[in-house]
Amino acid sequence: MTRSAPTPRELLTIAVEVARDAAATAYRMRAEGVSVAATKSTVTDVVTAADRAVERQVLDALAALRPDDAVLGEEYGEGEVRDAPSGVRWIVDPIDGTVNYLYGLPHSAVSLAAEVDGVVVAGVVRNVSTGEEWTATAGGGAWHDGERLSGSTETDLGQALVATGFGYDPKRRAHQARVVAELIPHVRDIRRLGAAALDLCLAAQGRVDAYFEKGLAAWDQAAGGLVASEAGLRVAGLGGLPAGPDLVIAAPPALFTPLHDRLAALDASGGP
Ligand code: IPD
Ligand code: CA
Ligand code: CA
Repeated sequence: MTRSAPTPRELLTIAVEVARDAAATAYRMRAEGVSVAATKSTVTDVVTAADRAVERQVLDALAALRPDDAVLGEEYGEGEVRDAPSGVRWIVDPIDGTVNYLYGLPHSAVSLAAEVDGVVVAGVVRNVSTGEEWTATAGGGAWHDGERLSGSTETDLGQALVATGFGYDPKRRAHQARVVAELIPHVRDIRRLGAAALDLCLAAQGRVDAYFEKGLAAWDQAAGGLVASEAGLRVAGLGGLPAGPDLVIAAPPALFTPLHDRLAALDASGGP
């Protein structure tokens, strides 16, 4: 039961302030030099000191501003507050695109979203290197640096530039690569840019026409998924399921069904 939940706008204001400071820390730490601090699910799933420091900073900032809210973060999991009286839960990916970040490729982001009663209502994705920022509130549209977003106007899947990503598990990657190999003759081209939150924002903006990926966690898709849906994209899984770990497809309505049907035929949500 929600008591005195703030408005999506109020939550976004907090999210933007916290994400900007977090991105500034990530930028500074990158300039000072980063290295792998540990590996997680596989040897290629790395964490740097910056992933941890940035998430810690976000947790501390949220604890100061919104002490009674719950938090879910990639590096530190769930916080101590579980059933927040406000109904608010924050979801943070401190650095989405860690491998890009490690290699100095300017394509990583801080992703911060706020849920109320389990529904994402505000989100911000901020590119650590460029300072580009995408925001959305439920019912309030999606925005990129002051411009309202409405996605691609492409209607032909054969002309569509489709972004995707791969998980860290080699067996999963092999299945994902087979799906891409079968899909690529039917689209303009494929992009693997390396940061799911940014992929969703680029799809929202029409800088790619559509995006799909299997295996995303809540922190990968919470903020970017809202940006995409508020830009008018359909964001869903296969066969009417909601977007989730099995599959996220984000595409303008005209591209959604043809892409969905191809991906279903290729068993894109299957495999390990
Ligand atoms: C990863 C990136 C990547 C996607 C993976 C994610 P991380 O997140 O978003 O593009 O393909 O599925 O796990 O590890 O860089 O935060
Ligand atoms: Ca991520
Ligand atoms: Ca991450």
